[in-house]
Amino acid sequence: MFMSQPPKAQTSSGKSPETYYDFIAGDYDMMTEKFSQWRAPEQMLSDIELLLHDNDRVLDIGTGTGLFLDELKKLDKPLDIHATDISHGMCKHCASKHPDVNISCGDFMSMELPWQTPFDLISLCGVVELFSDLDAVFSRIDGLLNNNGYIVFTYEPLLADNPTQNKQRSLIEPLNEDEQALYSEFYSWRHEPVLMQELLIKHDFNYLAGREFSAYKINQRDVIYHLVVAQKFII
Ligand SMILES: C[S@@+](CC[C@H](N)C(=O)[O-])C[C@H]1O[C@@H](n2cnc3c(N)ncnc32)[C@H](O)[C@@H]1O
Repeated sequence: MFMSQPPKAQTSSGKSPETYYDFIAGDYDMMTEKFSQWRAPEQMLSDIELLLHDNDRVLDIGTGTGLFLDELKKLDKPLDIHATDISHGMCKHCASKHPDVNISCGDFMSMELPWQTPFDLISLCGVVELFSDLDAVFSRIDGLLNNNGYIVFTYEPLLADNPTQNKQRSLIEPLNEDEQALYSEFYSWRHEPVLMQELLIKHDFNYLAGREFSAYKINQRDVIYHLVVAQKFII
């Protein structure tokens, strides 16, 4: 089921990635498989498969075309899956691949979720880097999770000794003039691993696991990501 809310002009990060993702939605699966070899969805699944139980309620934020949902379905477990994305194009593609998933389109930070809460697992695959204010993101997630629920997410770490990942933010620039006309520039944000752990603690999460992996390639070069699994404290 696909529900749509009018997109906001600006996201919580102050930029407007929705038109960018609308633009690439039709090619996203081909691009991520053939060119960039996007590995985050399968990596995330391997770290959470043992934590999921039958009929758990899952929310995938920034689901895109649903690549992480493809992975979840490999588990062959009955799950109650919900997904959101700011891009209508992405939501439409996801809905055509996953008609059984509840999908709602809008900016996660400001949209009203049309479903009952809480969730047992909230996932963000390749999405955290699009938010500058993670404090606000975790506050929102906190209110949507079960007391002992899990979050699993990937993020791009700030790596002082890596010449291509040592700046806090990178501009995502239009590739050509056609794209330039379609969307405004926006940034992807890197986060310090130590600060990420502190942020999770601040929001009452137990940091269960974190590891580094190669998420995709740019011109044959590996782009390093971190994968985190955390559990909300039981009070
Ligand atoms: C790099 S793609 C990742 C898609 C998918 N999770 C995957 O692993 O292939 C980032 C996605 O986040 C979505 N997104 C960006 N900002 C968002 C926001 N504020 N609320 C909801 N979705 C957002 C984009 O539209 C895009 O589909």
